[in-house]
Amino acid sequence: MAFLEVKDLKKSFGGAEVLRGLSFSLEQGQTLSVIGPSGGGKTTLLRCLNFLETADGGRIAVAGETIFDASRGVGLSEAERRKNRLHFGLVFQSFNLFPQYTALENVTLAPRLLAGTRERERLAEIEAEGAALLKRVGLGEKLRSYPHQLSGGQQQRVAIARALALRPEVLFFDEPTSALDPELTGEVLRVIRQLAEEGATMVVVTHEMRFAAAVSSQVLFIDGGAVAEAGPPEQIFGSPREERTRRFLSQLADG
Ligand SMILES: Nc1ncnc2c1ncn2[C@@H]1O[C@H](COP(=O)(O)OP(=O)(O)OP(=O)(O)O)[C@@H](O)[C@H]1O
Ligand SMILES: [Mg+2]
Repeated sequence: MAFLEVKDLKKSFGGAEVLRGLSFSLEQGQTLSVIGPSGGGKTTLLRCLNFLETADGGRIAVAGETIFDASRGVGLSEAERRKNRLHFGLVFQSFNLFPQYTALENVTLAPRLLAGTRERERLAEIEAEGAALLKRVGLGEKLRSYPHQLSGGQQQRVAIARALALRPEVLFFDEPTSALDPELTGEVLRVIRQLAEEGATMVVVTHEMRFAAAVSSQVLFIDGGAVAEAGPPEQIFGSPREERTRRFLSQLADG
């Protein structure tokens, strides 16, 4: 069984079916890139996997544990959603840092809440781990900076450190560089690439095709709420089997 298994995931908003039975799997330590046209359901997929939305159908299993199975009911409690979410980390396009907190406070907030303690030793440990994470994303000098004092690329790297702080089993990115100027894109992609090389298990929704080709072990092309084609990057970018994939990629090349 794969490390992450997503089977037949479905989600409708009102009458509109946005995910129409979407399936994929991912092995531990692999990076999956998700590409596809706007409105195809990529963000909805990540939101369902992170229990910001609840899917209407399908099954999600991680590390051998089924954490969502619609056939057993979809009415999750807030506590269940929060527990399920701990398997995963999510980095948004728009960083979503807390503006009133420093970089270090942004990274340590969730671990502090989860630890639920005032014990000084444990808090010092959490702080040291947060500082190490910020150092890992190249921000060892910015621990006490507030988001407005950081560039977009630096803010996104804080967001990555924050997502790593609870040691997620799978890390998800939703177009992590599309809000950034081109010169800041590289520094964020380098961090993601470094995580891939260190063996993180990741799903990256991206428009950066060169990055997807270089870093991912698998590429998923999502169109109309379902997987239209999946395969290694050499297949998807080199000789796509589906006409829809070919059309999408050639439109990008023209644009
Ligand atoms: N909360 C919601 N309520 C109603 N419709 C929604 C909601 N969220 C998403 N949708 C619709 O679902 C469809 C898929 O949206 P989604 O954001 O998942 O696409 P996407 O593939 O991430 O697109 P993009 O590349 O532009 O980010 C769209 O038609 C969108 O309008
Ligand atoms: Mg999206």
